[in-house]
Amino acid sequence: MNKKNEVTTLNGQQYQEVTAYDRLHMPRHTLDWSNVPRQTKSYPPLQKINLEPKIDLRGKSFWQVMEDTGSISPNVTLDIQTLSKVLALAYGYTARQQAGGQTFLYRSAPSAGALYPVEVYVSGAGIPGLPPGLFHYDIQAFALRKLRGEEASRRIAETLSVPKPENTWVSFILSGIFFRSSWKYRKRAFRYVMLDTGHLVENLVSALAFVGLPCSARYDFVDERLCTLVGLDRLKEACFAIVDVRLEGLLNDAESGVSQTEPMAPDLAMTNASMVSSHEVAYDAIKQIYFTSSERLKVCHPGSEMPCVTLPEPRQWFPVRHQDVKSARTDYAGVVKGRRSRRNFVREPITMTSFMRLLSLMGKTPFSGKNVKPYLPPVTTGFLVGHVEGFDHGFYRFDSENNRYGLFKSGSFMVKMAEICLDQLWLANAGVLFLFMANLKALDDSWGARAYRYAMLDAGALGQRLYLGSTALSLGCCGIGAFYDNEARALLDLKDDSYLLYLVAVGNIKK
Ligand SMILES: Cc1cc2nc3c(=O)[nH]c(=O)nc-3n(C[C@H](O)[C@H](O)[C@H](O)COP(=O)(O)O)c2cc1C
Repeated sequence: MNKKNEVTTLNGQQYQEVTAYDRLHMPRHTLDWSNVPRQTKSYPPLQKINLEPKIDLRGKSFWQVMEDTGSISPNVTLDIQTLSKVLALAYGYTARQQAGGQTFLYRSAPSAGALYPVEVYVSGAGIPGLPPGLFHYDIQAFALRKLRGEEASRRIAETLSVPKPENTWVSFILSGIFFRSSWKYRKRAFRYVMLDTGHLVENLVSALAFVGLPCSARYDFVDERLCTLVGLDRLKEACFAIVDVRLEGLLNDAESGVSQTEPMAPDLAMTNASMVSSHEVAYDAIKQIYFTSSERLKVCHPGSEMPCVTLPEPRQWFPVRHQDVKSARTDYAGVVKGRRSRRNFVREPITMTSFMRLLSLMGKTPFSGKNVKPYLPPVTTGFLVGHVEGFDHGFYRFDSENNRYGLFKSGSFMVKMAEICLDQLWLANAGVLFLFMANLKALDDSWGARAYRYAMLDAGALGQRLYLGSTALSLGCCGIGAFYDNEARALLDLKDDSYLLYLVAVGNIKK
């Protein structure tokens, strides 16, 4: 606390509290349409390397990619065509809409308010068709813009502990621009930036699996060093995730390390590009949660258990039965490109086979791989059943470690939850409302303040799995970040220190 009793740091739990929505005290806010943030970054002229627009995206089935059944291939070459496929799938334009004389472009990853705060940078060396260096992915031009040369790529390799940076390697660095989201969501925007980034992490991980490349995602690195290398103004834009491609004999079990070399000086022309509007508003709460959560993750004790977010635990558990399901869309690229937020739910039960297949997608997060030691799931997944064949109405918990589910409490909660979600009443018609929750105090105590990012990023990543799985099963899906926080905790009987972080609705839609 400083002299004026102003809080200068906020951990995840404190941030969640100060950004809670309360039905009786909703802040008035009109959107400033004269000051809409730019959706693409604007750099001074930089060398442009075109990506390959005409790429063949035929290939593996969606389930093969997502369920990791032989999609990784040891012989894949990482070249500009492969990179083009990955970027087009993970974060390409997928739909356009005309409104008010303007063309609006939607992307393969969803984004709260369609504000798209996430930017992608590519760092690498030894890739045919691409000089070594650090690049910004320009989605509009479908091109890479060279920000820095070989020296930066070497330093990034060191920062990321790439064992042999002189070989072929590539890392995707994901950042978030705060004002893009805070223009609409104000101080609550850090939540959305994290969730949106999580969605994109999952899209990148699965797009890399589609082209046959193994990868690992990390949320822990030295923030300041990485942001400086990428050339970001950390008050406006910051790095939140890295997806490393693990090529044969290269990135095996690379731990996030700290480079011993001095950081490169920031380049003003580059850092200025983090500004997306001439009248940006900076929110203290965002600054505080960002800097507090910049501390490196504490290593928690192996075997320690995350406390349950609700009381009591389900009395009986049921295994998720893997069932084959005929889905309308089975090609991976078709699913990714066909994904949209669909809200026109009808009260028609989701079939048991579809629901089981959806649940089977939820057992994995970007962190369930062997690269994170020790692994503790930062989020707890639950679901409210409205209309699912063979399921009674109620609040269930999904245990991702053991791939099973159990009933917390029976009852019909759909209408109440729709009201809690800022009266978005169409949610009551969904088949199921997935809930991502966390005990933020326990996370903070065992992992430190950075754990909040882990929880939100993982919630976003799991949300993306639901979006894609729903698309493959011809179901509708929509993420929901807006809810009256304390009402949600009360409805779900969450323990003290536990919070609802994100909700994703899935259900049959009007055909
Ligand atoms: C984190 C997150 C929160 C969202 N919250 C809401 C919401 O509260 N209500 C809603 O109708 N849509 C919500 N959406 C859906 C977005 O509005 C949607 O992704 C965006 O308009 C882009 O459209 P698309 O998903 O069809 O590509 C959310 C999406 C995300 C990723």
